[in-house]
Amino acid sequence: MKDKLVKNHGLTHPARILAIETSCDETAAAVMIDGTLRSNVVSSQLDHGQYGGVIPELASRLHQQDIVRVVDQALTEADSRLDELTAVAFTEGPGLLGALLVGASYAKGLAIGLDIPLIGVHHMQAHVLANFLTDDPPTFPFICLTVSGGHTQLILLRDYLDMELIGETIDDAAGEAFDKAAKLMDLPYPGGPHIDRLAKEGDPKAFSFPKPDVGTFSFSFSGLKTSLLYQLRDGLKEAPTFVEQNRAHIAASYQAHIVHILLEKLFLAADTYEVSTLAIAGGVSANSELRKRFVEGCEARGWKAHIPPFAYCTDNAAMIAQVGHLKYVAGETTPLTTVPFTRGGV
Ligand code: KG4
Ligand code: ZN
Repeated sequence: MKDKLVKNHGLTHPARILAIETSCDETAAAVMIDGTLRSNVVSSQLDHGQYGGVIPELASRLHQQDIVRVVDQALTEADSRLDELTAVAFTEGPGLLGALLVGASYAKGLAIGLDIPLIGVHHMQAHVLANFLTDDPPTFPFICLTVSGGHTQLILLRDYLDMELIGETIDDAAGEAFDKAAKLMDLPYPGGPHIDRLAKEGDPKAFSFPKPDVGTFSFSFSGLKTSLLYQLRDGLKEAPTFVEQNRAHIAASYQAHIVHILLEKLFLAADTYEVSTLAIAGGVSANSELRKRFVEGCEARGWKAHIPPFAYCTDNAAMIAQVGHLKYVAGETTPLTTVPFTRGGV
């Protein structure tokens, strides 16, 4: 998949970075030249759909199968040869270990063979900095709500690589909450986009869900899924067609509830830290209701709202190239002995 290439304002510096992303079920590669994204190739592993979730072993095998082609395509689309690269960046974690090892080993092989620096990139930092892959990037300081399949984080940024985690989920991630609800309603994996689509035809007030009682900037979504499970079970006792009849209403109510919780905490964090520039990032930032409410909420408060272009919300290597470029400029390289990690903040 080739998408619109974006000029990266304010971050120009001579460097030709190849970036590789293999943390979950997307094999992706991108090339950034002098701070401008030149190619962004994403190959999504569709095979997991039939199992209702990502199978780690299968993900590793598919990365191994796809990575050569994806990297070649990224280089070709960027009119770049391997011997022209200045550094190779890769996702070091968090993610699935076997999947990360494929990208890490490939990147290390290239770094050794080409005798260029290796740059390990934190996947969650990359999601946040995808906000700089636009013509109108945020200014510092700003707070970013990062919502993906594995994480829900509130992050205060004082500079590109100066990030402070101010809150996160204590159990399920927001994306996981969408995916689990979709599974309960027999929708395909990943469920987020299906709930988003169905919600457009439903009543967001038709069903109600509990509000978790957790710390000020913490999130909890596991109770939400359990509540849905019970409401579906009770409904199905009354009518076997309950799910079919109510799918759109459930999707709309469930989505509205998640969006409300996410934005309530994000806006409270902005008030508390006296920050008036806000951003969202990660796969769930592709959600149309979240995007709309986020922009409306910021406008009402006179705050500046930033959302990465759609293609850089879900997993991609453009965002890895962005961090790779910044780290290269800052002289931050990674030893060849590095080992990918599966968990961790920002
Ligand atoms: O960032 P991402 O691509 O991968 C991880 O790093 O986890 O996020 C994937 C998550 C999945 O849970 C998926 O259901 C969710 O993002 N997602 C959405 C939408 N598009 C993707 N959730 C809600 N609405 C969407 N439109
Ligand atoms: Zn991600």
